[in-house]
Amino acid sequence: MASVWNAALETNVEKIDKRHQEIFRQADVLADPSKHGKLTDMLKFLGEYVILHFQEEEDLQITSKYSEFENHKKFHTAFLASFQEMNQRYSNTGDKTVALDMAKLVTDWLKDHIMVHDKKFASYYRSTIKE
Ligand SMILES: [Fe+2]
Repeated sequence: MASVWNAALETNVEKIDKRHQEIFRQADVLADPSKHGKLTDMLKFLGEYVILHFQEEEDLQITSKYSEFENHKKFHTAFLASFQEMNQRYSNTGDKTVALDMAKLVTDWLKDHIMVHDKKFASYYRSTIKE
């Protein structure tokens, strides 16, 4: 699977964009079984990385007093629930096709989330930074 990252996804907040790119990169690896080692490790790594990214983004929202913080956080929480559900499916069944489903979940969700919610926050955030 070719990377779905493209310039249209940039929020122009460097810290956020770097994390997004890395998440897409990991999803690409996940989608190609010849590229990843143990699936359990890969899922754990990706899960932790996504949580770290959400926390950073939420921290920026809190410190910049973003009025839609609560709402934005709900999307993150909902995503993590789906992610966990898939993780559970894998540990219950050992079904490796979960890797592809997971890659699709991550890229599809993230793409939509970035285009609407992250971009909205990013433009607010940039407006609060005085240079
Ligand atoms: Fe977000």
